[in-house]
Amino acid sequence: MLVSTRDATIHVRTWSPDRPSGDGPPLLLIHGFPLTSALWDDVARGLVAAGHRVLAPDLRGFGESRGAPARTLADHVDDLVAVLEAVGVASLPWVGFSMGGYVAFEALRRAPERILALGLVDTKAEADTDEARQGRYALAARVAEAGSRVVADAMTPKLFAAGANEGLRRTWHARMAAADPAAVADALVAMATRPDSTPLLASIDRPTVVVVGDEDVLTPPSDAERLAASIRGARLVRVPGAGHATPVERPDDVARALGALGALAKPPRA
Ligand code: MLT
Repeated sequence: MLVSTRDATIHVRTWSPDRPSGDGPPLLLIHGFPLTSALWDDVARGLVAAGHRVLAPDLRGFGESRGAPARTLADHVDDLVAVLEAVGVASLPWVGFSMGGYVAFEALRRAPERILALGLVDTKAEADTDEARQGRYALAARVAEAGSRVVADAMTPKLFAAGANEGLRRTWHARMAAADPAAVADALVAMATRPDSTPLLASIDRPTVVVVGDEDVLTPPSDAERLAASIRGARLVRVPGAGHATPVERPDDVARALGALGALAKPPRA
């Protein structure tokens, strides 16, 4: 489906269980950088089989979503809130993979009433270091000159576990290389300027699961351990045989972890 927001058109992939018992709460799945909702295809299948509805948007500028440049992560949060309004869902679990996790943290600041539970997949709460920030600006400048392939080339070796198959690497390299360079450069700037979310963690009072690939070199298990330890009651799920791209490398494990989260999420009483 397509949802028109103030200055964007957001493409949302939706999956619904076809059996009457499929009344699990819907989940919102937010992809990472510079990817699309296709990241969640296999995870969504597992969640639907467990009775959940799934909403997986393409963030503005990525996949089939279009709009004015998103220079901050708040722009994405506003788009996602508009999507929830369009589908008539007041609140639900937000699941963010990597940059999608940064979007979920921004939603905790901007629209906490929309969040019933949190799934934080291969992500972290800290802001960029100065060095990382400078690296993002330099990369954004290179993307503007040479296109998204430079990001695809830089990220592909870091996305997957050592044992990942060549087909997976090729497919995702091609998808990243096809991303709109303007959206890629905007996302680099939005990530570089995101605030530190660690001060938020102690106040999170929603069911939370933190998922990480055991071989993630971009947001390693040590980040996930620190994240889970800082959120009251958070469950940590380490996924063996996965790198950063856990949702495509081990979708069944991720669907199981998120399905358990969905079952814990209860809408507030009317
Ligand atoms: C992602 O997977 O979304 C990115 O690695 C996030 C980042 O660059 O910080």
